Amino acid sequence: MAFILGFGGYVPDRIMTNDDWAELVDTDDEWITARTGIKERRFAADDQSTLDLAAHAAEKAMEDAGLTAAEIDEIIVATDTPEAYTPDTASFLQHRLGCREVPAYDLGGSGCAGFVQALDVARARMLLQPKRILIVGVELISRLMSWKDRSFCVLFGDAAGAVVLGPEDGRAELLDVVAGTDGSKTEILTLKTGGTRYPFNAESLASGAYQHLDMDGRRVFREAVHRMSTAVEDLLENTQRTIDEVALVIPHQANKRIIDAVGHKLAIPEERVYINVQDYGNTGSATVPFALWEAKETGRIRPGDLVALTAFGAGFHWAAAAIQF
Ligand code: UT7
Repeated sequence: MAFILGFGGYVPDRIMTNDDWAELVDTDDEWITARTGIKERRFAADDQSTLDLAAHAAEKAMEDAGLTAAEIDEIIVATDTPEAYTPDTASFLQHRLGCREVPAYDLGGSGCAGFVQALDVARARMLLQPKRILIVGVELISRLMSWKDRSFCVLFGDAAGAVVLGPEDGRAELLDVVAGTDGSKTEILTLKTGGTRYPFNAESLASGAYQHLDMDGRRVFREAVHRMSTAVEDLLENTQRTIDEVALVIPHQANKRIIDAVGHKLAIPEERVYINVQDYGNTGSATVPFALWEAKETGRIRPGDLVALTAFGAGFHWAAAAIQF
């Protein structure tokens, strides 16, 4: 059995509003609000890196769990915007936190589903051997994205979220995780340049291709609604629960319209769907763990609550998790 022993979340101080973006690209608050629901997002300071954000969230989660770094047995970091090309962010984090020489690895490239996928991996690892696993979702997208392409830049923000999983009967039991991938849809959301097929070179540098996200927004939208809602339905079937028993659904926060459509498909009232996209935008792998931490901190989750996390990401990946507080 796997329990969540501690929660952590962190966003940088710098606020970037829609009006701030309107000064840099051809956009306005009205378009961004109507199409996405986003009003502002946080961007890391120039001297912060992915590791700094991850460490803040991880330290909070360990403190919340009442554990020291020496008591962590494994580290998983979900990110698409790592500290370095190689090695992975988890290696840097292990050293920064002062953990023992325990296994540490990244789940990278799975877009915004990475953290919930990591919960699935961690849960399986705990079946082999009970241990305390630190899981972090972190993104510093503002550093790597194009600041010139209005179709993408207004959507994203920087953040980190973390949990510590353990075998002790803690505050929240991870009841089940479902996950899946449809690799036939890689082309609807992909940053191709920088890999071996399209290496980073002088040409991609000059054209800006190394920062260009190919995104078919409408197809991503449709897939996101379908996969996130179906994943929750699968969870409910596996755990023999009904949607009426779910106190809060925490979906990936890419777009308020996607979140509303998922709530509608699940037939769950709006007050039982967590929404913070207006304050932070899409923070990739950090979105779900940060929202989980924030929901707990602000009293939206109470003892006894059944909470469903659900996420989608480039791949096309999806994953959902049921947590009994
Ligand atoms: O991890 C990333 C996950 N990505 C997603 O979840 C994206 C899912 N999709 C969406 O959220 C929506 O499709 C978007 C928010 C990206 C776009 O909304 P939409 O209602 O699908 O708009 P659209 O793509 O049909 O674009 C409509 C218009 C276009 O102009 P024309 O061709 O109609 O003249 C765009 O050029 O809006 C224009 N546009 C903008 N206008 C003002 C695109 N970006 C902007 C902008 N400001 N920032």
